[in-house]
Amino acid sequence: MKLAGRVALVTGAGSGIGKATALLLARQGVPVGALSDTEAEVRATAETIRQAGGEAIPLVADVGESASMRDALSRLLRAFGRLDIVVANAGINGIRAPIDEIAPDEWDDTIKTNLRGTYLTLHLSIPHLKKAGGGAIVIVSSVDGTRLFSDSGSAAYSCTKAAQVALAKVAALELARHRIRVNAVCPGSIATEIGDNTYERHVDRAAVKVEYPDGEIPLTDGEPGTADDVAELILFLVSERSRHITGTPVFIDGAQSLLVG
Ligand code: NAI
Repeated sequence: MKLAGRVALVTGAGSGIGKATALLLARQGVPVGALSDTEAEVRATAETIRQAGGEAIPLVADVGESASMRDALSRLLRAFGRLDIVVANAGINGIRAPIDEIAPDEWDDTIKTNLRGTYLTLHLSIPHLKKAGGGAIVIVSSVDGTRLFSDSGSAAYSCTKAAQVALAKVAALELARHRIRVNAVCPGSIATEIGDNTYERHVDRAAVKVEYPDGEIPLTDGEPGTADDVAELILFLVSERSRHITGTPVFIDGAQSLLVG
C-alpha cells in the first residue's frame, strides 16, 4: 500500500466505520490519531491498536468545536511530527422528523457535527498535509442526500451528506496543486452504533411508501454491510493504489441506492 512513514487522523474513531478504519490503517504500520468526543471509546481504540503492535494516540475533541479540534491536531503533531492522511468520518444521524417539525436547534446540531465538523477537520489538517508535500483525505458521506432520498425525515442529515460531497469536489480541485487528493465514500446501510445517535419524531408523517423488488440490499439479500467493508475502501483511497483518483464519491452499498432512481 506504500503507506510507510505516513501518519493518519481518523475522526469518529471510537466506533463503527472510524474504528475499523483506524485499526486497519494501524495494521498497515500507519501511526493513528484516533479522535472522538467520547474519551473511553478512543482510549479503547488506541489500546487495541497498541496491543496489536501498532501506534496510536487517543484524541478527545468535538469535531464541531474549533478550539478543541485545534488542540487535538496539536497533540497529534507533537506525538507523530507530521500528518499525511485524514479520514473525516465523525457523524450522527441526529434528528429524523418531518421538515416542518425539525426545530432550528435540532437542525443546527446535525449541521454542526456532520458539516461544520468536516469543514473544521479539513480546515485544520490541510496546512499540515501541504507541509508534508501531499496527502490524502477521505470524507465519509452517505447514499442519503447523494443517491437516495427516501429515508423519511432525514432532511438535515441528507443535506450534510450532500454538502460533504460538494466539499470533497471543491477541495480536490483546490488542493490538486499541492498533491493532496480528496475523495468521498458513500455507504449504504452499515451495521454500526449510529442508531444510538438517532432521534426520531413522527417519521411516519414524512414517509413515502417505497416497495423494493427483492429486499433492500440486492448484493447481500438485505444484510447491511460491515464497518470493515468501508474501511477497506478507505484504505484503498488513502493509498498510492488510488493515486489518480480525486474528487470522486465512491458508493459502497451493495446496490441499495440503485433500487430507487
Ligand atoms: P458510529 O455511531 O458507530 O460512530 C460514530 C463515531 O463518531 C463515534 O466514535 C462517535 O463518538 C463519533 N462522534 C459523533 N459525534 C462526534 C462529535 N461531535 N465529535 C467527535 N466525534 C463524534 O457511526 P458510524 O455508522 O460508524 O458513522 C460514521 C460515519 O459514517 C458518519 O459520518 C455516518 O454519517 C456515516 N454513514 C454511516 C452509515 C451507517 O449505516 N452506519 C451509512 C452511511 C454513512
